[in-house]
Amino acid sequence: MTVVNGYEQSDNEKKLDILNLPALEDEAKKIIPTGGYGYIFGGSEDDWTLRQNTKAFEHAQIVPKALSDIESPDLSTNVFGLDLKTPVMMAPTAAQGLAHAKGEADTARGVAAVGGLMAQSTYSSTSIADTAAAGNGAPQFFQLYMSKDWSFNESLLDEAKKAGVKAIILTVDATVDGYREQDIINNFQFPIPMANLTKFSEGDGKGKGIGEIYASAAQKIGPDDVRRIAEYTDLPVIVKGIQSPEDALRAIGAGAAGIYVSNHGGRQLMVAQHHSMYLKASLRQLTTKYQSFLILVFAVGAMSSRH
Ligand SMILES: Cc1cc2nc3c(=O)[nH]c(=O)nc-3n(C[C@H](O)[C@H](O)[C@H](O)COP(=O)(O)O)c2cc1C
Repeated sequence: MTVVNGYEQSDNEKKLDILNLPALEDEAKKIIPTGGYGYIFGGSEDDWTLRQNTKAFEHAQIVPKALSDIESPDLSTNVFGLDLKTPVMMAPTAAQGLAHAKGEADTARGVAAVGGLMAQSTYSSTSIADTAAAGNGAPQFFQLYMSKDWSFNESLLDEAKKAGVKAIILTVDATVDGYREQDIINNFQFPIPMANLTKFSEGDGKGKGIGEIYASAAQKIGPDDVRRIAEYTDLPVIVKGIQSPEDALRAIGAGAAGIYVSNHGGRQLMVAQHHSMYLKASLRQLTTKYQSFLILVFAVGAMSSRH
């Protein structure tokens, strides 16, 4: 264990003997200090949206295809021209140093090993370049929390491009922080610096609460920002945090290459729509009209097995 600003950060490395994701949660709780665990695990307010997300997944069902005459199912897929062995993306997840000293670098290694796609968060503990290097050439996306300071946005996008990311995920549902009761109960402040914010005039996030960090983010995001990021980077821009067909159309109209249906895992707006099948179905109808647009409906959570 390493103690960083009073936070007992795990540097333990061992093979995990776990049967399923709830068992992984139990193991994580043993080694992640209370404040960090509350930040990772908690939703906004009393977790209402988080609970609805879980319920919605409990209703999701799979209809198996029988007599398919296949011996070895092939899970590989292609996203934005990228070949993936596994059709899974690691959701952009902030501050992974709270869970382990190796932070996002080790996550990138793991995702690369299974042939998935890694999305780096702006608020990562590990820098863009280090996380990209750990991925060893495997595809990665960069998620942008837009700052009020456009020159800062440009410097992050420059770094991401230099590191070889294949797309930008623009998160639009977190212009302010969610009212997260766990963080209030634990009086949680980030003990570990956020590597990408070290150049930021407002500080690297260390010793700040999530509210203070979001205060530096842009509170006003519009279609022109999608256009501007696409033009600046010449990369596909995926708009994350879309919950209605109307907003999907607005994002597409602004030049988005993809839509990421998400309520931020129930961490932002309380009583946000859950991942109902209706929402997904209505978005799917859009793909009939806009065949070239990728609709991303990611069900997997981040460091915890929650949404
Ligand atoms: C600990 C934690 C940190 C997160 N950090 C970010 C982040 O930095 N940027 C972001 O866009 N989403 C972040 N998310 C949200 C996830 O990307 C993802 O949206 C969520 O876990 C899954 O819910 P969804 O299916 O509603 O997208 C975070 C989630 C968790 C659990």
